[in-house]
Amino acid sequence: MQDELFAARDLTIALPGSQGSMIRIVENLSFSLAPREILGIVGESGSGKSMTALAIMGLIDVPGARITGSMLFKGQELVGLGARALRRLRGREIAMIFQDPMTALTPVHTIGWQIDEQIRAHESLSRAGARARTIDLLGEMGVPDPRRAADRYPHQLSGGLRQRAMIAMALSCNPSLLIADEPTTALDVTVQAQILDLLRRLRHNFGSSVLLITHDMGVVAETCDRTLVLYAGNVAERGPTGDIFAHPGHPYARALLASIPPLHGVRPSRLLSIPGQPPSPAERPAGCPFRPRCPQAHAQCEQTPPMVRRGEQDIACVLAAPEPVQA
Ligand SMILES: Nc1ncnc2c1ncn2[C@@H]1O[C@H](COP(=O)(O)OP(=O)(O)OP(=O)(O)O)[C@@H](O)[C@H]1O
Ligand code: SF4
Ligand SMILES: [Mg+2]
Repeated sequence: MQDELFAARDLTIALPGSQGSMIRIVENLSFSLAPREILGIVGESGSGKSMTALAIMGLIDVPGARITGSMLFKGQELVGLGARALRRLRGREIAMIFQDPMTALTPVHTIGWQIDEQIRAHESLSRAGARARTIDLLGEMGVPDPRRAADRYPHQLSGGLRQRAMIAMALSCNPSLLIADEPTTALDVTVQAQILDLLRRLRHNFGSSVLLITHDMGVVAETCDRTLVLYAGNVAERGPTGDIFAHPGHPYARALLASIPPLHGVRPSRLLSIPGQPPSPAERPAGCPFRPRCPQAHAQCEQTPPMVRRGEQDIACVLAAPEPVQA
């Protein structure tokens, strides 16, 4: 589609296992992102969310890893792209923020210095010019007194301010795509809401699309235009967030929704509504990967489920509806 900024088609990420085997961490993943859209990827721990993000960034550093399928960014194929070309895209076109800002910020320099450097790596600006831009950016990220904050070291800032500084750094080169991997998990609820609000505003202020990775359906509901539910490295369901919340088609999506805690309750760390754990990638069962935990599993689920289109939702479940479409 012409209006896609990014499109993954049949993306498969395999890592070397024991005795020469290859273990498929992510299988045949397809999704797309329009300009200025926020897409949520949601799934339990180990479902392959971070691996997918790292694959887009060209940052999977496991020897022997094999990435197949297609990832088109502005029409350019990222699968098989050389390290140099990928480096050029990173920071300039695609940037990533992490759960822990200290993975991106070094403790030995002020945050202002670090953002200045990032700006100067991509643009020929004087030190003073870069600093002016840094202060603007920190201000736009809602950092109070940005001039003073720029002179602080990361450990002198609160978790929320560090997260804002990291987002400022990621946005310093105006990326078209920002990947945010669990950016609010370590923050308290109030600061989390502020950071999510900031991400929502990026599309207007910076024209960026956001790929938001989370295990929290509450975060998805508040933030994402469309959602992809990942289970054991496979798409369980994808579609407009409102549709998935109104009528989830996949039993796993239903279970995830049932696990959303009340507004002021404690968020459960695992799915309370369905017993069991997701399989490890090496032990994924044949057929539907959700089969061992699915309350509706039956003999037909031993076959790979079709991807079924229902309205704008795609549901990888044999029970969803009669007409299969291509994954
Ligand atoms: N370097 C690695 N070598 C081998 N296996 C790995 C490596 N990194 C991740 N994996 C495996 O890949 C699978 C997906 O991991 P990934 O980190 O993408 O999960 P995730 O969905 O981001 O989980 P979380 O919510 O815990 O961050 C997991 O089973 C994990 O054990
Ligand atoms: S295909 Fe079968 S096992 Fe998988 S989610 Fe649907 S009913 Fe459950
Ligand atoms: Mg992760």
